[in-house]
Amino acid sequence: MKTPRHFLTLRDIDPQEFRHLIQRGQELKAMHAEGRTYLPLQQKVLAMVFEKSSTRTRVSFEAAMVQFGGSAIFLSPRDTQLGRGEPVADTARVLSRMVDAIMVRTFAHETLEEFAAHSQVPVINGLSDQYHPCQLLADMMTYFEHRGDIRGRTVAWVGDGNNMCHSYINAACLLDFQLRIAVPEGYEPAADLLAAAGERVQVVRDPQAAVADADLVVTDVWASMGQEEENNRRRQAFQEYQVDEVLMGTAAPDALFMHCLPAHRGEEVSAAVIDGPRSVVWDEAENRLHAQKALLEFLLAPALSGQPC
Ligand code: CP
Ligand code: NVA
Repeated sequence: MKTPRHFLTLRDIDPQEFRHLIQRGQELKAMHAEGRTYLPLQQKVLAMVFEKSSTRTRVSFEAAMVQFGGSAIFLSPRDTQLGRGEPVADTARVLSRMVDAIMVRTFAHETLEEFAAHSQVPVINGLSDQYHPCQLLADMMTYFEHRGDIRGRTVAWVGDGNNMCHSYINAACLLDFQLRIAVPEGYEPAADLLAAAGERVQVVRDPQAAVADADLVVTDVWASMGQEEENNRRRQAFQEYQVDEVLMGTAAPDALFMHCLPAHRGEEVSAAVIDGPRSVVWDEAENRLHAQKALLEFLLAPALSGQPC
């Protein structure tokens, strides 16, 4: 059996493939806007395993499969045997004999790795506690769309050293931009990722030091899914880390603001920033659809993608 190509983190693609996915996402977006019918995944089925809630990831993958002529099946632990203790490995073996790709949103990243190890078809990370690579495809596509190449630019991450932050570190290495992370003590991203990223990624305490002259400012919720019981403690720890108009005012004059959503106005971002002129969060959310179409095409119809997978 040929080992399938998985997408568990951005490290599963190389810089050239990342740039291809960004460009192809833009092409597919234009084709969609023109109303052109393009059905590269007819008869193909994507299984989507969600162990956590989702709006954007679920709808974008499902819409992508339908628009490509295929279909998607939503599976939650509430109504599958996975939720009653059937092993991950067995679930992966069975699903991958029936469908063409499997998207998994889960807690421990190791669950995804186990899924992938026992799957005959590509496994896609729809978010784990450690990474959210699909969101980075959309974020980077959105930056390129608005401002061109991100190489050599400076990105400020303000807030938790979480799954999104980890994927930004990976993206900085692949696309060659500087990343400044402003994070309170005790909430830093994983030390091994920071060490591997070297000088491209810098951790600071002061949000102003991270945001000064930055080309892109990004934040995310202070308590991620699964951390609900830490809400109060985190609110305390992060109270100086809100992206508000004063902080955005120190970024480069044409800086953009992004947030993967869902957002908590008045916590990690002020309403004036997320609903303001520098915010591109709605394009960013829409681009989940187009960027993931590029990913699905790349994994399942590489000849059509124009990029050997
Ligand atoms: N940004 C994101 O992944 O959103 P959902 O949790 O709604 O899928
Ligand atoms: N860091 C957030 C991202 C949600 C899309 C979480 O994991 O809940």
